[in-house]
Amino acid sequence: MRTRPFPSRKLYDGEELWELAEALRSQTLFRYTGSKVRRFEEEFASYFGVKYACASTSGTAAIHTAVAMVNPDPGDEIITSPITDMGTVAPIIYQNAIPIFADVGEDYNLDPESVEANVTERTRAIIVVHLFGNPARMDEIMEVARRHNITVIEDCAQAYLAEYKGRLCGTIGHIGCFSLQGSKHITTGEGGMTITDDPELAKRGAMFTDKGWDRSKEGPRVYPFLGLNYRMTELQGAVGLAQLKKLRGVVERRRKLAGMLNERLGDVEGVKPQPVAEGNKCSYWQYAFTIDKDKGVPAAKFVEVLRREGIPANAGYIGKPIFLSQEALRDKRTFGRSSHPFDYPGVRKVRYEEGICPNCEDILNRMVLLPFNEEFTEEDVDDLAEGVRKAAEELF
Ligand SMILES: Cc1ncc(COP(=O)(O)O)c(C=O)c1O
Repeated sequence: MRTRPFPSRKLYDGEELWELAEALRSQTLFRYTGSKVRRFEEEFASYFGVKYACASTSGTAAIHTAVAMVNPDPGDEIITSPITDMGTVAPIIYQNAIPIFADVGEDYNLDPESVEANVTERTRAIIVVHLFGNPARMDEIMEVARRHNITVIEDCAQAYLAEYKGRLCGTIGHIGCFSLQGSKHITTGEGGMTITDDPELAKRGAMFTDKGWDRSKEGPRVYPFLGLNYRMTELQGAVGLAQLKKLRGVVERRRKLAGMLNERLGDVEGVKPQPVAEGNKCSYWQYAFTIDKDKGVPAAKFVEVLRREGIPANAGYIGKPIFLSQEALRDKRTFGRSSHPFDYPGVRKVRYEEGICPNCEDILNRMVLLPFNEEFTEEDVDDLAEGVRKAAEELF
């Protein structure tokens, strides 16, 4: 059916070039002697209406920075979603904490009831993932966190300008994290940003990305705690400044296209677009739908037909819950020959195996991702819808 390729993204133009040239002309690409990263942080913070933003080298680094701000004791627990990128989970283990996976609801995001059921005395944080840009049920999650005195980190790698009841995702919890990796709404190739309103957390985050160094102290160097070098370069800062100006346009265009697609798929029997709760706005990093359970057709089969029709769709995003995809995690083979932190004294025994998050497994088996970006036209949307309709007619 579709013979032409779908449009690819047009990410950069003269604005990035201008900022980059200015960075190079300044003769420093190091953030503490240049101005681009500092300005990018300031503009990012004001864009999101928060007091502080801390740039880093990736979304993974941004989440590691957030976990380091929380400063868990070894063996403390951090609850997160089983449908996510490894970049959400690796920082938990590197900071010696134990990832605990709560199950997801119909919206593919953390189910607050399952979060509550997984809280123990050792829970220090919840990392909420707004999957594909769809806001998670923040009121209920914040309520669980408040009751148990737990910090909430929002993983907004896929959720730039996603809105939950009129509030921007990333500003509802205590800390918000963003990725600037190549596929994200805005990108500096690689990069990350951690935002917060809390001055103590912000200070800790900034120092963590700078090897734990307290640059405010004169004289001999002062490193009050352990940190890493996650400093963003001026090149990334320069591109980030230009990209930030394009963010609203990218998200609005994706919303418009997704709205058209939702409408066209509305009367296709047996498929259901990712549910976005009323009053919320998704930012559509990916366009996803599920095949109704009663059709008994796995996503892989559906995708086979779509591909035959010229639509390069994907089945099931990461395929399996993240704790089964990641072998080190599944088998608890971590550092050297140890299972640290899983074998640390007093740590609750956790199992990462099939069946612990049944909704997650079920949704991944039925989930289809369509090719999608802000360069698509109405014609492209028509072809996507037509392809889905054809596949549904053939398979159901
Ligand atoms: C939900 C989520 N969290 C974290 C990350 C990690 O970001 P990065 O690839 O920039 O390290 C990604 C990106 O792939 C992501 O999609």
